[in-house]
Amino acid sequence: MTQHQRLLIIDFGSQVTQLIARRLRELNIYSEIRPFNTVTADTLREMAPQAVILSGSPASVTETDSPRVPQELFEMGVPVFGICYGQQVMMAQLGGRVEAGHHAEYGRAFISPAAGHKGDSIFAGLFETEREQVWMSHGDRVTELAPGFEIIGTSPNAPMAMIADEARHFYAVQFHPEVHHTPHGRKIFENFVKLAGFTGDWTMASYRDEAIATIRAQVGDRKVICGLSGGVDSSVAAVLIHEAIGDQLTCVFVDHGLLRLNEAEEVVSMFRDNYNIPLIHADESDLFLGALEGVSDPETKRKTIGKLFIDVFQKYANDIEGAEFLAQGTLYPDVIESVSFSGGPSVTIKSHHNVGGLPEKMGLKLVEPLRELFKDEVRALGRELGLPDSFIGRHPFPGPGLAIRCPGEITRDKLEILRKADAVFIDQIRKHGLYDEIWQAFVAILPVRTVGVMGDGRTYDYACALRAVTSVDGMTADYYPFSHEFLGETATRIINEVKGINRCTYDITSKPPGTIEWE
Ligand code: XMP
Repeated sequence: MTQHQRLLIIDFGSQVTQLIARRLRELNIYSEIRPFNTVTADTLREMAPQAVILSGSPASVTETDSPRVPQELFEMGVPVFGICYGQQVMMAQLGGRVEAGHHAEYGRAFISPAAGHKGDSIFAGLFETEREQVWMSHGDRVTELAPGFEIIGTSPNAPMAMIADEARHFYAVQFHPEVHHTPHGRKIFENFVKLAGFTGDWTMASYRDEAIATIRAQVGDRKVICGLSGGVDSSVAAVLIHEAIGDQLTCVFVDHGLLRLNEAEEVVSMFRDNYNIPLIHADESDLFLGALEGVSDPETKRKTIGKLFIDVFQKYANDIEGAEFLAQGTLYPDVIESVSFSGGPSVTIKSHHNVGGLPEKMGLKLVEPLRELFKDEVRALGRELGLPDSFIGRHPFPGPGLAIRCPGEITRDKLEILRKADAVFIDQIRKHGLYDEIWQAFVAILPVRTVGVMGDGRTYDYACALRAVTSVDGMTADYYPFSHEFLGETATRIINEVKGINRCTYDITSKPPGTIEWE
């Protein structure tokens, strides 16, 4: 267990629990999210958190068998902060009252300070204007405070929107301070952790040192295989593990022939030349493209690639004698256990793409040094490890690669055209200094030929779509508002420089309802 000061987040299944951890990480606080049904009085004693936060939930405390926390939590003498359902659980368990229904507030709401309070203790710094904007998402509300609590702030539909028991350091809010739409939510977390005595001792430099020590302890003098995709996660994992155990690590880079222009060469040279990491470059493009011949259904494409990937990886890994571990760049959002209410207290864990199922099949144990990190923290760790910024800042690239940017049948010709057009688009974006503002940008080659005129001749070539989106996590996205000048210039360049394309469109669909990729 980490030596850092620890904060425990008890998860009741809210959609935004991860954001609580996120806000705390920004304050250099180490936190762990545990599903409510795994938290017992024993785990509390064992983990000895310095403070506890209770999350929101889709459940209602007014229903029988709705989730609770061990009563011992409130007798440990540690500060507790309840959010939404967390507030209601505190009231239900500490002697207050919660009423169901008819009081729903969803979305933006405004809180006013209660008489005699203008933002004290963990709410200090709020109410600099008359009202404080917050984000609500609740059906039930507290109607009677538990003994010891007083009201700090109220909203039209939640008269007990902010409450506190200063003597015991228990605090609770009806709204969600962890989401972006509660502009001063961060301030509340900052006040809470300060009051709980946290010093902010969780930094990337300390994470790196601890991760290296953990890898050494886990692996000893045995061997590790790492599947490199060329993406940031697996690259950072590989460099970190190499720093820990040197040549006991071998990387396998499966090249499925669906990568961008020059991508395979760049990855190989970076790992072999710059880091001197033993690397197997498995060029299996013939195998993958052969299997994809005539396939146009998106799911069949994905499944074909996924299955072959596992076979190929296994084939190469089998040649690495004595390997006992498989390294994966699994991130925190992939491993957080989510709580299921419909199916009882069963727990679903999201599995990682690409190599899912491999460890069991090959009898390998997992090394997952990034499983406590969020994406931007992986980038920070990469910087700490000296990976070049140009590499760390790279846009995400999907496992199935260009296959899902080539609707309809995939042919080598189409892939070649797509690669060239994509390279021009990215070049344009870089030249205009827009790369870092964009979450992802790419070209999709469409299964449509259109008529054009170039010089004095008629052309009958492919149409392509440019796609560029802004996003924070890939879950929702909006199209990037390029200027018409930029779009015009890019279309002209693509059509002039890429033989095989004579028409260029810009995809202005957001997600939802669209997805980022075309398939
Ligand atoms: P969509 O298209 O679902 O994509 O809006 C969301 C994000 O996920 C990436 N993506 C994938 N990444 N394997 C991956 O590693 C996949 O099969 C896959 N499909 C989509 C996509 O590029 C975007 O960043």
